[in-house]
Formats: sequence, C-alpha cells, structure tokens
Amino acid sequence: MRILFLGDIVGHIGLRAVSDVLPSIRQKERLDFVIANGENASGGFGLTEEDYQYLIDSGVDCVTLGNHWDSKKQIREYCERAPKLVRPANILYFDGGSGSRKFLVGEKEVTVTNILGTAFMKETVASPIVTMGEILPSSSAIHIVDYHAESTSEKAIFASYFDGRVSAVIGTHTHVQTADETVYPGGTAFISDAGLCGAHQSVIGFDKAGAIDKMVFGRDAKLKIKEDGDKVVNGVILDIADNGKTTSIKRVYLINGKEKNNG
Ligand SMILES: [Fe+2]
Ligand SMILES: [Fe+2]
Repeated sequence: MRILFLGDIVGHIGLRAVSDVLPSIRQKERLDFVIANGENASGGFGLTEEDYQYLIDSGVDCVTLGNHWDSKKQIREYCERAPKLVRPANILYFDGGSGSRKFLVGEKEVTVTNILGTAFMKETVASPIVTMGEILPSSSAIHIVDYHAESTSEKAIFASYFDGRVSAVIGTHTHVQTADETVYPGGTAFISDAGLCGAHQSVIGFDKAGAIDKMVFGRDAKLKIKEDGDKVVNGVILDIADNGKTTSIKRVYLINGKEKNNG
C-alpha cells in the first residue's frame, strides 16, 4: 500500500497547488491512497464544504483537520454528509462526524485518525493517549494517525509510545516540513511535521507584510493568505505492508511541481 500524506493546505493557492500536482504524482508514485490536512484551506482558517469537495474532486481520498477544524461553523452540520472527512477525535462536546474512519482501498482497509495535541495549544481536549487507546481495538492493520500539534517532542513521544500499534504518526500544524522522517523498530513511521501546501516564501502560508506588522510593529493587522507566487507542496509517501508495518517513509517537497533543490 502506497499512501501520500500532504501537510496543511493553506488558502486557494494551496488547494490549487494540490490539484495541480496530484494527477502526475499519483501516476508517477503509483499511489493507492491520498490523505491531506485541510484545516487551513478556506481563507486560512477552517474548511468549507465547497473546499472539502474541491479536494475530493482533485483526487484526495481523505481530508483531516486540526485545531481550526470548526473555524468555518458550517462544518458542524456538513460533516455528517462528508464521508471522507476526519475531524480531531479528542475534541470535547461535539459528537458529529468522525475522528477515526475506515476506508476501503482495493480489498484492504485503511484507518485514518486525527488527534489534537496539548502542549502550547489553546484547545481543551481529551487525552491523546487515552483517546488513541480507545480507538485502537477497532482499527484496521493499516492505520495512519495525523497528530496535529505544536510540540515536536510531544509528537515523538506519542509516536514512540504507539510504535508497532499504528502504521504511521504524521505530525501536522506547524506548516514547516521537518527532516526527521524515520521508521521506528516496531514498524511505525514518524515525521514531526509533514509541512505546508500553499505559498512558498510566505510566513507559514500567510502574507509577510501583515505578519511583520503584527509582530514587529505590534499593529492589530489581520493575517492574510499569500495567494500569489510560487506554490509549494509538502508531504510524505509511505510504503506499508499488509500487516500494517511501514517499510519506508519518503519526504515530498515540490515547488511549482518540481522537486526542491536549494532555497
Ligand atoms: Fe495548520
Ligand atoms: Fe493547526
């Protein structure tokens, strides 16, 4: 089983970047399944039903979310008719949609789970470890976890603890791809962060001027998405055996559809 996991998609430029490259990468890499984090796809915060559908029509098989899962409130209603959407499993006070779903890929099952981390995050959530422990007994052998969190060590601790019990723990949320991809001894692949699908040379997908105004000059500037310039697509490709053990993890870093070399 070959799975592509794409990092946080930010704005229209991110949606376009993904739809531009997906047909060719699917063919070239002989992908069986594509997962993408869509928590920032709609105006930088949240995911509208229209943009969810755009991703599915572009060839994404499963869309995961994060702390911005309900920044577009309509999701609380449309998640019930979005079978390829996986919202954080450990949020409180909302039972709609699903935080862990099984997908049939050929004759094999793939479970996708979305978990929100806790360190340096504002949201109050149920324990990621306890939530995962509740999900595991009914999950399939091939199981991909999108661990959406700020702290690299928290993500590594979670992945190490569940090594051998899930196929991969892929970090999201920071919008910066890390170079620490690895497969642990038990067969669980890990990377601290898959990265960004959006504008290259931006501030994690947002326009530099507004970010500078906010941080350097303390102005009450509104963050705007950088919607022009070069498009970046970040992610990882996983090779997973039928028993759920991952045999390889490879980073994907494309700029305008071409592999990044320098800068
Ligand atoms: Fe994000
Ligand atoms: Fe996030």
